[in-house]
Amino acid sequence: MSGPTDNFTIIIFGAGGDLASRKLFPSIYQLARWGQLPPAYRVIGVGRAGQSHEEFRRVVKERVMELSPESIDDPALFDEFCRQLFYVNADLDDIDGYMSLHDEIMKPGAEEAVCNNLLFYLSTPPSLAPGIVHNLVRAGLGGRGHSCPGWRKIIVEKPFGHDLESAVELNRILEEAFEERQIYRIDHYLGKEPVQNIMVLRFSNGMFEPLWNRQYIAQVQITIAEEFGIRGRGAYYEEAGLLGDIIQNHGLQLLAAIAMEPPVELSPDAIRDEKAKVLKSVRLFSSESVNDSVVLGQYEGYRFEKGVAVDSNIETCAAVRFNLDNWRWSGVPFYMKAGKCLSRTVTEIVITFKCPPQNFYANSAALSCTPNQVILGIQPDETVAIRFGTKRPGEEMVTDPVFMKFDYRTSFAERGLTPYHRLVLDAIAGNQMNFIRRDSVERSWSIIDSIRDALAGQVPEPYPVNSWGPESSVRIYG
Ligand code: BG6
Repeated sequence: MSGPTDNFTIIIFGAGGDLASRKLFPSIYQLARWGQLPPAYRVIGVGRAGQSHEEFRRVVKERVMELSPESIDDPALFDEFCRQLFYVNADLDDIDGYMSLHDEIMKPGAEEAVCNNLLFYLSTPPSLAPGIVHNLVRAGLGGRGHSCPGWRKIIVEKPFGHDLESAVELNRILEEAFEERQIYRIDHYLGKEPVQNIMVLRFSNGMFEPLWNRQYIAQVQITIAEEFGIRGRGAYYEEAGLLGDIIQNHGLQLLAAIAMEPPVELSPDAIRDEKAKVLKSVRLFSSESVNDSVVLGQYEGYRFEKGVAVDSNIETCAAVRFNLDNWRWSGVPFYMKAGKCLSRTVTEIVITFKCPPQNFYANSAALSCTPNQVILGIQPDETVAIRFGTKRPGEEMVTDPVFMKFDYRTSFAERGLTPYHRLVLDAIAGNQMNFIRRDSVERSWSIIDSIRDALAGQVPEPYPVNSWGPESSVRIYG
C-alpha cells in the first residue's frame, strides 16, 4: 500500500451530486483513514448551493450517512476528515465563480504545495464539462504550460460526452487546457478487483491463453444487470440512456479486457494500445445488420420517473451482439446484455468453449455436449469458475457438468480497495493504467453512434420490471 504523497488540493465539481456522496467522499475519507493522504490536503466542493464551509461539511456528512453509511466506520475520524472540506459558491457558467475558486485555492496562509498541486474532479453531467474546463483556463487554473512548481491533473467522470462529436469536442477543449498525461478519464469498473484480475488471469497463467481464440471459443457473454431502476437520475438518463451510461464505457471496457492481445509490457500505454486496437476491430452497425444484432428496451414505468419525458424513447436495457474483425476473434460473437430493473443484480462474463469434435458420453441424443465455460463473476460474487463435464457416479458412462470455483472472499483474508479509492489514489500517483485514453473513448462512441444511427426512430420495446428485459432480445442469439 503506497503512503502519502505530496500535499495537494482536490477540487470537486458536482460535490452535491449522488456520485460524490455515494462514492467519492467515502473513498477520499478511506484514503485518509488508511494514511494515504499527505499531512496537508484540502477538498474543495464547487457548486451553486450557496453554502458556507460549515454548512457544506454538515451536508456532506448527512448525505454520506444516508447513501453510504457503511463507509463511516470511524465517526471521529470522519469528522476530522470533514474539517478539510471547503466550499466555493459558483455558477458553473460564470467566470466570477472560478475567480473565487482561484482565490480559495491560493488563499494566503495555505501551505505552498496545497496551492500548487491541484487535482480537479469533474463529477458532473457530460454537457457541463466543456464549460468548466474552459473557465478553469480563463481563471488561470489550467494545466498546460503551467509554469509554477507542482502538478495539475483532471479526472473526468463517465460518460465522457454523449456521442462521438461531443467527445471529440470535449477532448479538444481538454487538450487545450491539459496535456494527455494530465487527463484521467475515469470508468470505475476499471478499479474493480475482478476486472483487474481479467488480465492477470489471462496473462499470468499458461493454460488459458493458448485456448483464448476463435479456434476454441464459441462465444462470449457479458452481462451487467441491475435490479434497481435509474435511482432518481431521470434527467441524466434522458441524456445518456443505457447505451451511454453502461455499454459505451463499462461494457466495452470489459469486452476490451477479454479480447485484447497481450501487451508488450505492463505500462499504461502498452495496455491502452491493446485495448484501443480491440475496440477498433469491433464492427460498426449498419441499418442492415442492426436488427439482428441489437434490441433495446425500456422498463414499464420508466416514463413516470421524475425528470423523464412522458413520451421518452430512451432505452434502459440493451442486448447487443458484437463482432470483432480481427484474426483472434473473427466469427466469435460477443453478446452483451445490460439493463435496469432486471430480475437480479449481477455482472459476469461467461466464456463458452467449443465442444470436442466427438462426444462418447452424451447424456441424450438431444444434449450432445455440455460445453466448457470459464465464468468470471465481477459482482456481487467475485469469482472465477470453470465448468467441465465429469462422470456421473454409477453404472452408466454419462457426464454431468460440475464447477471448480475460486472466490476472492474465501481465498484472501484482505479486502480489496473500493474502485474509487483505488482510482483516485492512482490519479494522485500519476498512474494512468486504469483510465481510458482518448482514442478508446472516441472509438467507443463511434460504436454506440453506429447503433443509434442504424436504429434511428425505433422505439425501445417495453419490458416488465423484474424480468430479463425485452422478449425479442432472444433474436440476437439466432
Ligand atoms: C454507473 C452507472 O457508472 O455504474 C450506474 O451510471 C450504475 O447506472 C453503476 O448503476 C454501477 O456501478 P456499481 O459499481 O455500483 O455496480
